[in-house]
Amino acid sequence: MSQKMRSDYCGTLRAADADREVSLCGWVARRREHGEHLAFIDLRDHTGIVQCVVEGAADLRSEYVVRITGKVRVRPADTANADLPTGEIEVGAENVEILSAAEPPPFPLDERTDVDETLRLRHRYLDLRRAPMQHNMRTRAKVNSALRQAMEEQGFVEIETPMLIASTPEGARDFVVPSRLHPGNFYALPQSPQIFKQLCMVGGLDRYYQIARCLRDEDLRADRQFEFLQLDAEMSFAGQEEVFECISHAVAAATEAVTGERPTEFPRMPWREAMERFGSDKPDTRFGMELVELTPLFSATEFKVFQAPSVKGIRIPGGAADVTRKRLDELTEDVKRWGGKGLVWMRVEEDELNSPVAKFLTDDEAAGLRTAMEAEVGDLLFIVADEWKTTVHLLGLLRLAMGRPSLSEGPRNFLWITEFPLFEEMDGDRPIPMHHPFTMPHVDDLELLDPAGGEALLDVRSQSYDLVMNGWELGSGSVRIHRPDIQSQIFTLLGIGPEEAEAKFGFLLDAFRYGAPPHAGFAFGTDRLTALLVGEENIREVIAFPKTQSGADPLTKAPSPLDPVHLNELGLRVLPPAT
Ligand code: AMO
Ligand code: AMP
Repeated sequence: MSQKMRSDYCGTLRAADADREVSLCGWVARRREHGEHLAFIDLRDHTGIVQCVVEGAADLRSEYVVRITGKVRVRPADTANADLPTGEIEVGAENVEILSAAEPPPFPLDERTDVDETLRLRHRYLDLRRAPMQHNMRTRAKVNSALRQAMEEQGFVEIETPMLIASTPEGARDFVVPSRLHPGNFYALPQSPQIFKQLCMVGGLDRYYQIARCLRDEDLRADRQFEFLQLDAEMSFAGQEEVFECISHAVAAATEAVTGERPTEFPRMPWREAMERFGSDKPDTRFGMELVELTPLFSATEFKVFQAPSVKGIRIPGGAADVTRKRLDELTEDVKRWGGKGLVWMRVEEDELNSPVAKFLTDDEAAGLRTAMEAEVGDLLFIVADEWKTTVHLLGLLRLAMGRPSLSEGPRNFLWITEFPLFEEMDGDRPIPMHHPFTMPHVDDLELLDPAGGEALLDVRSQSYDLVMNGWELGSGSVRIHRPDIQSQIFTLLGIGPEEAEAKFGFLLDAFRYGAPPHAGFAFGTDRLTALLVGEENIREVIAFPKTQSGADPLTKAPSPLDPVHLNELGLRVLPPAT
């Protein structure tokens, strides 16, 4: 007679199940002796823990895999455990079958005590058994599933693009794969499906999406891994408005699937305003402390430090007493490390601004400063004077250092940042693109695209946009250039000659000659969205098998040397490390 291995999951049993005969399977999470012959076994599966009372459990140890058959019974009221969803009942074991023995685990699996991360990653299969990781993995799956559904509802077609490709220009280093059949030649792994999704538009697919694996050889951080996933999308006969509508819908659906609450507000802010007010292109709008413009106030100042193109400040309410002198010195050092010259601080008192530099200000300047900053007694003021870019950048970092709430606090503030500059900075007289070279300039700024434009090129706005939330960049996108004339104009500006353009992107330019629809798209990191939704500061916590900060995998020991025979086959020789 065939019989199913289990009838119920451990974490689902309740008082209403009393007297039912159940078969449960799972791991021994904990055992406590109860008299001479009885033991309480906490049995764990992915749904939770249930207490089983077992007779003669001498050979059951931690993490043994067992099948327990028995009867559910209500615990006497005084032994119920209010902290456990199954705490009102226990299972009186009638039969215990050991399915697998287990060695003692190298770290406790019950709680999220501070286990060394390398140890966790070396035994990730054990780490995954822990409740927080189970929650994170299942939340990730919910996010992906909700995204797929939302995209399909809106008419997007899922298309897989290749992994072995020619280089994509996303600005990071490529991971490369040597070709055995074409010795000396290499594939690049995709930094994103950017070019293929644009080709899909030329191919008439109209609306493409993919939860795409992307690979970038860049320095790893809390929000960056070598390989990560993007919800990647592209749409034809559409511009920024359509992209915002479709992506906001997908993000709202994923958020609702995880939190039960559907975000309805997706406000917008031009890049310039974000920089002026928050000193960041991914502003955390959960708190104030906005940057205050002080340049006109100090336009004729005698104080050397404030004789700069841009002077701005932030006000830390009540900070005068809270922030010690030692901390102020540390912050001044931070500012210097971040590329600034120094930091002016002032404690706002009844009849003076208490600061080492107060004596350099005129009475009018001091009074004007109080008014501009809306300063109140007890506040702390920070002022930075520098080039505009540096001033806003430094104050943006100071603002975060002084006021940023933890990830789990406050609302989820989604925000579209629009009108990014087309170019990031100048490399000599060549501009460097902010996004990628296929981004459409703002229609009103087309006439500024003059190769001899110099620094004025940095004022050219683009039709590109980011979605941010609480200080994290979730994703980026743009309206693309579909007109060959504008595309070659941009290539010329970037110093990409016709030959180089042909060699690198010839296939895309060719495709555009055969009727390219106007199109626009977007991609956001699903690892980042999931991390934000579960309140994790590091995306490693929502990835089943991530790499460490140094890019290694302690579990499989990747990366590792290649067998000489294999190297030979590929026509490769390894040089000694560069000194
Ligand atoms: P971009 O390069 O801005 O745009 O990437 C889009 C989003 O992908 C996520 N992301 C990462 N997540 C984890 N680890 C990384 N190393 C990493 N790098 C990027 C971020 C980021 O916002 N093709 C364009 C999109 C487009 O124009 O349609 C692109 O890839 O959340
Ligand atoms: P200094 O004149 O360099 O001795 O600086 C006087 C004070 O102004 C010190 O507290 C510096 O930290 C601060 N400071 C110097 N340069 C700047 C600047 N560019 N912006 C803000 N504060 C500055």
